Amino acid sequence: MSDDHGTIESLSSLAHETPDTYPPSAEFRAQANQNNSEIYLRAAADPEGYWAEQARTRLTWTKPFTEVLDWTNPPFAKWFQDGELNVAANCLDRHVANGLGDRVAIHFEGEPGDSRSITYAELTYEVKRAANMLTSLGVTAGDRVAIYMPMIPETIISMLAVARLGAAHSVVFGGFSAESLRARIDDAEAELVITADGGYRKGRVSPLKPVVDQALELDDADGKPSTVKHVLVVQRGKNDITMESGRDLWWHEEITAYDGEHQAQGFPAENPLFILYTSGTTGRPKGILHTSGGYLTQVTTTHSDVFDLKPESDVWWCTADVGWVTGHSYIVYGPLANGATQVVYEGTPDTPDWGRWWEIIQKYGVTTFYTAPTAIRSFMKVGRQVPEKYDLSSIRLLGSVGEPINPEAWRWYHEVIGASQVPIVDTWWQTETGAIMVAPLPGLTSLKPGSSQIAQPGIAVSVLDESGDKVDRGQGGLLVVERPWPAMVRTIWGDDQRFIDTYWEKFGDKYFAGDGARLDEDGDVWFMGRVDDVMNVSGHRLSTTEIESALVGHHAVAEAAVVGADDETTGQAVVAFVILKSQQQLLTEAEAEAELKKHVASHIGAIARPRNVFVVNELPKTRSGKIMRRLLKDAAEGRTIGDTTTLADTMVMQTISDRVVAER
Ligand code: WTA
Repeated sequence: MSDDHGTIESLSSLAHETPDTYPPSAEFRAQANQNNSEIYLRAAADPEGYWAEQARTRLTWTKPFTEVLDWTNPPFAKWFQDGELNVAANCLDRHVANGLGDRVAIHFEGEPGDSRSITYAELTYEVKRAANMLTSLGVTAGDRVAIYMPMIPETIISMLAVARLGAAHSVVFGGFSAESLRARIDDAEAELVITADGGYRKGRVSPLKPVVDQALELDDADGKPSTVKHVLVVQRGKNDITMESGRDLWWHEEITAYDGEHQAQGFPAENPLFILYTSGTTGRPKGILHTSGGYLTQVTTTHSDVFDLKPESDVWWCTADVGWVTGHSYIVYGPLANGATQVVYEGTPDTPDWGRWWEIIQKYGVTTFYTAPTAIRSFMKVGRQVPEKYDLSSIRLLGSVGEPINPEAWRWYHEVIGASQVPIVDTWWQTETGAIMVAPLPGLTSLKPGSSQIAQPGIAVSVLDESGDKVDRGQGGLLVVERPWPAMVRTIWGDDQRFIDTYWEKFGDKYFAGDGARLDEDGDVWFMGRVDDVMNVSGHRLSTTEIESALVGHHAVAEAAVVGADDETTGQAVVAFVILKSQQQLLTEAEAEAELKKHVASHIGAIARPRNVFVVNELPKTRSGKIMRRLLKDAAEGRTIGDTTTLADTMVMQTISDRVVAER
């Protein structure tokens, strides 16, 4: 644990306020889904009534609920618990039954240029067949299925087929290593893994099935074999793979045996829908558990109101990977349950060149576009001449997620992508919150670049000081959610105690998000980054502790300390300081650095690869032996080193910052 867990002082930087505001245009406001600010008052007066109304009007229940919220055993919430529904049927069958079968659900764009458009009728048929196939592989309600896939339609089909059967999926981002995948398979005790031979990234096939093979060959922590009985493999990359007979099955061979007849059954609202692992402040990832009815209520509501969705005319595009929560909520469940048409793109934004995204927007006439500040900053670096070559006039709303958006990036996004006209909704939420919590409503809010501004109707957030009192306007503190919300995390899979300790210990029955925030004079919320040992690299959460454990797992490393340092493009970057074991001094520093970067990437995944590894002789420690990461962060960011008086050896930081400066 670091020396600065959960304190306000550890906030890396204060958000810059700006006086400019961008009110909604009269035309936008007139047509907006939400254009009467009374919704806030109505929802605040009776939040449960508000959410019950959303649940009843937006979803189709096989058994209506009579009870809205059970909070008798906090922090374990139950929403709509006596109701029953089928999540997949809400995303598929009901649209077909309502005569929308011919509407395109997914315009799929493969990285090499292949494309296919799939209607709601076709998607429903494919999901029914897949559900039949999974049933014959033994998947039933309550089971867990691991999904390790590229961004292709079969990934979405797999998730919906699992949900249709009342089982829970655990999607593991395709960039994670064999070791990370195995830890997630073991924790969820998955018996089936759905994967692909490989998927396209940066112009070549990136193998996936070989990583699954490797994961299943690893020894379990306690020497047990994995729980996996079958691996179902979608053919995509056509790369060479080996198939273990009896265990591995080709999707395209198996599926031919199944037809599209499948009656969806209703499951209780609190039936688990998915587990999604995210980094915490300790080395072990947390399995965030989401359930069905409440989750679907809030993702459909926010997808509709925050993005002003017009399902009959909009073309939605969320650029996230389905391996992250943004993909779960705003590619799979929100858009499909709302009957939207969307683009799903397999690859990277710079393949074959930096025009790719803008070309896709032009091709499909994308109207509403949701991406991350890190991507916007990369495009800024490349220059506006690239997007300016394309016709982006179809765009009528832009969204941002994953980290605070700096006002400069906001303005570029507004001007270059949004023709200085369209609203930008900066949406704050987390894997744990399941859905958007703090964001403007585009027909109502006067936008402020850099601020997420205001809690959604039916949601109450506050900014508290260390002792749990609300801060005044103009002050900073820690963000909490005041009341249970429908899409909230239900527990950490298999670890109720860790759930309590992580989120509810600090402020009792208020949810502690781990983010610092500031209220401006109007009461708008400005997020200021994490206050714990979680870094945010390109919008991805990484744990300093997890990377430190990977580093000390290397035979040459005696000690390691990792910090998230400000980075112009990725928001933060992983910077590691390591002490080598004395017999390893034969390795040159350059060799050690290259080797350790590779080591972290292969243990956790490429997203965790440190930007810098500095070999040092000593780390700054307090007299009680705690590493002072705050000082290392100062050094990594090229700032004057803060107060070193509590260090056991006050000279150590001088040596370290000389070392960092030498590298610049
Ligand atoms: C950060 C992603 C500021 C925040 C949906 C949060 C943001 C963490 C924003 C969750 C935003 C996300 N403004 N910070 N608009 N959106 N964050 O679980 O620190 O991958 O706690 O969920 O990202 O990351 P996660």
